[in-house]
Amino acid sequence: MRFEGHQALITGGASGIGLATARRMAGEGARLILWDIDAQALDRAAAAFGPQALCQRVDVTDEHAVQSAMADAMAQCGRLDIVVNSAGIVGPSEPFWRHSLSAWQRVIDLNLTAIFLVCRAAVPHLSTGGTGRIVNLASIAGKEGNANQAAYSASKAGVIGLTKSMAKDLVDRNILVNAVAPAIVHSALVAQMPPSQIELVLAKIPMKRTGRVEEVAALVCWLASSECSFSTGAVYDASGGRATY
Ligand SMILES: NC(=O)c1ccc[n+]([C@@H]2O[C@H](COP(=O)([O-])OP(=O)(O)OC[C@H]3O[C@@H](n4cnc5c(N)ncnc54)[C@H](O)[C@@H]3O)[C@@H](O)[C@H]2O)c1
Repeated sequence: MRFEGHQALITGGASGIGLATARRMAGEGARLILWDIDAQALDRAAAAFGPQALCQRVDVTDEHAVQSAMADAMAQCGRLDIVVNSAGIVGPSEPFWRHSLSAWQRVIDLNLTAIFLVCRAAVPHLSTGGTGRIVNLASIAGKEGNANQAAYSASKAGVIGLTKSMAKDLVDRNILVNAVAPAIVHSALVAQMPPSQIELVLAKIPMKRTGRVEEVAALVCWLASSECSFSTGAVYDASGGRATY
């Protein structure tokens, strides 16, 4: 029960890694605030978690929606210990010169700028008493740069830089900020990729398989817990041995 008495906000919390993290945290005593843009998936999460979760339909790329949802959540929940930024998309799978500006912008807005927006809104509420944690979903693509995924790779490299800066800005508030860099993990996100791209990234993994959302959630939960006490600004791979540096 590592999260007993803790309140966790999870973006993209209605699907994939965010949902697996929500399940594990709820099983260990956390109360949840789940933000997602997918109303149907949120309804399913609300039914599954019951009163343990406040489910809010929020587009995390919308500055005003983020601020107003945060104010609403804090009015209802009163405290915040953990933020997990899991909302994300793959975007185009093609050489960068074929990316449209709008597709590029959409990926950067959601995968990178939204983390800035959510964390900026969260900081005034985040616990400074030793339980404050932020965990950002980066990707091994942000370290290596996947062929055919320039927008995605650049957004995730940005998440790594943002994580390292936020960690230093928040160290005096006793809030730890870390990132997880998964290789390909079986989720709805992978369905956004053409089979040829999936083959390309799978071939790089020594374990020769996709990860499971529960495997990433286990790492996210450790980083979000008080067991993680001497790491901040760090990036933890969950990559089946796919190594970068
Ligand atoms: N699955 C993988 O292979 C993989 C690998 C590396 C990194 N990641 C990262 O992990 C994170 C989670 O991915 P996943 O595999 O769980 O994907 P997923 O598609 O299962 O979940 C993403 C969630 O984000 C939500 N979302 C999308 N746009 C949103 C918006 N504007 N506002 C709020 N919510 C929004 C979706 O509705 C969905 O519920 C992403 O940041 C992704 O880039 C995933």
